[in-house]
Amino acid sequence: EEMLEIWEELSLGYTESRGHPKLIQEISGLYPGIPSSGPESPIVLAPQEGVFLAMQSLLQPGDRVVAMWPGYQSLYEVARSMGCKVDFWKPRLDEAGVPAHFDVKDLGELLLSGPAAKLVVVNFPHNPTGFLPSAAEFHEVVELCRSQGAYLFSDEMYRGLELSPNDRLPTAVEMYDRAVSLGGVSKGLSLPGLRIGWLASASRPFLDRVAELKDYTTICSAAPSEILAIIALRGRDAIFDMNRQIILGNLNALHSFFDDYPDRFAWQPPRAGTVCFPRLLGPAAEAGAAEYCERLREKHGILLLPSGTYEYDEPCFRLGYGRRNLKENLSLWRTALDAGSS
Ligand SMILES: Cc1ncc(COP(=O)(O)O)c(C=O)c1O
Repeated sequence: EEMLEIWEELSLGYTESRGHPKLIQEISGLYPGIPSSGPESPIVLAPQEGVFLAMQSLLQPGDRVVAMWPGYQSLYEVARSMGCKVDFWKPRLDEAGVPAHFDVKDLGELLLSGPAAKLVVVNFPHNPTGFLPSAAEFHEVVELCRSQGAYLFSDEMYRGLELSPNDRLPTAVEMYDRAVSLGGVSKGLSLPGLRIGWLASASRPFLDRVAELKDYTTICSAAPSEILAIIALRGRDAIFDMNRQIILGNLNALHSFFDDYPDRFAWQPPRAGTVCFPRLLGPAAEAGAAEYCERLREKHGILLLPSGTYEYDEPCFRLGYGRRNLKENLSLWRTALDAGSS
């Protein structure tokens, strides 16, 4: 009822630059220890805007950044475009050549092997591999950053979509005063069209700078979106559960699909999120992921994202399994495979 009243009184004027106070209150509830109002509370912005403004706030040309790769492009490309030196934390491959595991030891070696990093960028649950570290491994990542004095940008957009809710990680800002957590309603709450996300951090200078820079991007968020985001966040447990059911059903279908074509594909079942990153085998692998994906799109209307989009050389593709129509698309794909046309 409270929300109905707010919705009916909705005015389409400018909104508060840092976000609707009730929305900020709802968001701060996700981060123990983070205040629900005032200059140390989270800032509301579009998720992609959050990546951009965080990098602009934290980095200077020449700074060293260590980022997971392959990954969501802006998580390393914005820093690169600012003249930073970006080194990649790469996954270890399994015996079939599928990116399987980001080993914290490799991050540690990378951090010790060059000048001090200003920023470490992680994304758990990870797009595109579906990788999720254990809480102990995440803690080690934080300790590595602490030992180097590096900031940690933690993209937590897929948080809430763990296949097993017990696997949900603490947020980075709960663990480290130089951490920035990016969250939003686009993935776990399936509302990307609202363009609502947020940055939370215990670093007041960081938040002040983001708030200043936001005056040069969107100034404030869209009034109707803010109200809809409050409603969604208040119902988040039910929405996460609904989405988890869809994902678990789709993953069962994916397991039987990949079981049926062991000489065509290899994969690592994801632990969270809505995407995974299988690998082509056999002749399709030799022709390359770009050609395979293009043929599948053109002939059968099935959309996969080839690994070249990530500048990643292995013949992999990103497969989204978050939509309700996955099973129909898998049967189209099966027909194509069985007819020898894909
Ligand atoms: C890991 C990750 N971070 C950030 C974003 C940006 O979210 P949005 O498109 O809602 O701005 C995405 C979107 O795909 C993403 O996958």
